[in-house]
Amino acid sequence: MTVVNGEVTREVPVIPGGQRVLGHALEFGRDPLALFQRAREHGDVVRIRFGPFCFYVLNSPSAIRQALVGEARKLGKGLNFGRAKRLIGNGLVMSEGENHHRQRRLMQPAFHRAEIARYVATMRDVAVPRISAWPDGGTLAFDREIRSITLTVLTRTLLSSDVGTDAIDEIERLLRTLLSELVARGIAANVPGLAWVPTRSNRRFSAANRRLGALLTRIIDGYRRAGADHDDLISILMRARDDDTGAGMTSKQLRDEATTLVIAGSETTGNTIAWACYLLAQHPQIQERLQEEADLVLEGADASYETLSRLPFTRAVITEALRLYSPVWILPRRALVDVELGGHLLRAGSRIFFSPYALNRDARLHHDPDRFEPDRWATDYSRSDMRATFFPFGQGIRNCIGEGFAWTESTLLLSAIAARWQLRLADGTAVHPVVSSTLVPSELPIIVTRRR
Ligand code: HEM
Repeated sequence: MTVVNGEVTREVPVIPGGQRVLGHALEFGRDPLALFQRAREHGDVVRIRFGPFCFYVLNSPSAIRQALVGEARKLGKGLNFGRAKRLIGNGLVMSEGENHHRQRRLMQPAFHRAEIARYVATMRDVAVPRISAWPDGGTLAFDREIRSITLTVLTRTLLSSDVGTDAIDEIERLLRTLLSELVARGIAANVPGLAWVPTRSNRRFSAANRRLGALLTRIIDGYRRAGADHDDLISILMRARDDDTGAGMTSKQLRDEATTLVIAGSETTGNTIAWACYLLAQHPQIQERLQEEADLVLEGADASYETLSRLPFTRAVITEALRLYSPVWILPRRALVDVELGGHLLRAGSRIFFSPYALNRDARLHHDPDRFEPDRWATDYSRSDMRATFFPFGQGIRNCIGEGFAWTESTLLLSAIAARWQLRLADGTAVHPVVSSTLVPSELPIIVTRRR
């Protein structure tokens, strides 16, 4: 029994089915999505066990909202280790407390609507020629292709062409290596002691990380010396000043934030678009409606920021892809002090998870939850329902700073694809979600046929 505000509450149950010694570790290794879906059957707040360690899992939307909004300041991310930490240092995703609050204020101006509207030109210039040049009748490894486009979009938004094509190309190559190495060795690469063992993967990761740091520092120092505005995202971050102290970001902080934005923003958006295309390829009638909307609104031209707001069905398709295949499939927290969540007292130091993937496929929250049905977003939900149960971009003080960027980019790319291509999944392909740092398709060979 636990006492919260003078009342006796139930002990948080450990879900059944764990092994005597390892607990739920093997099941987590085999199929974490199924484990989190199963955990939902056993209460609003439950525990899973990995050997001697217990982790809390929040299942009810209200307990999750408490963690993200009401009690957010009592919780940290608990991610201060591993390759991600070495790569993005003290960037927004990793920072905590007052440091996070300050950085968040400095970063916010780069994501105002007016700035996002300006980034549309870069998004269009990068993505549309790539999409238009796909080989008619060819088969593309679609998720890789789209992730590659979203990585280029972010790199070019961050750094203007003033930096020089060679430097930008090298940065992009390094980021590609780092992104794949980030998850390459899974847990082993993230155990602090093992990160320093000179394996080939660790050496490759360290070399790319050092080179990226050196290049970004050179660019940032060059910008400072020149004192000019380069009309890119890094320039906006460099201009930002703290309201209280008047201080800007150091070169190290700018470097961490630039890398953070690429790491947090490219795979998430790329996978969302790729999953949307997978779902469209499986549902030809919905694909046809999407194409009709693109034809009607874009009239053969490339999208502008203004036309993007007139594509409601495209947005519904993206929302439904986010519901079925939320790229951020799990979110971690660590209690900094004792905290009450869902009627249970969780002690300082407790490790906490929740899974947007499992939440979004719960039949108590969404009718026929495994079905792809974009129209549900036009009819079934009020805005407040949606905010109470659906958090693909998180909520509260740590919600996604790039949400506006992600909506704009995914609407632009998906409508550009719909206007040009008919998508069909290659015969004999069985796609399933695989957990990595984001939720990726096991494979996604899509045949593209040019629309007449
Ligand atoms: C569909 C695409 C995206 C999804 C689903 C997504 C989802 C999320 C979620 C769920 C969080 C909250 C994490 C938490 O509460 O711990 C988050 C945070 C964040 N996202 Fe995104 N994101 C996307 C795109 C982007 C883009 C395009 C950028 C940048 C250009 C970005 C940058 C960030 C950053 C910096 C944070 C950390 C915010 C903070 O801790 O204050 N994301 N994202």
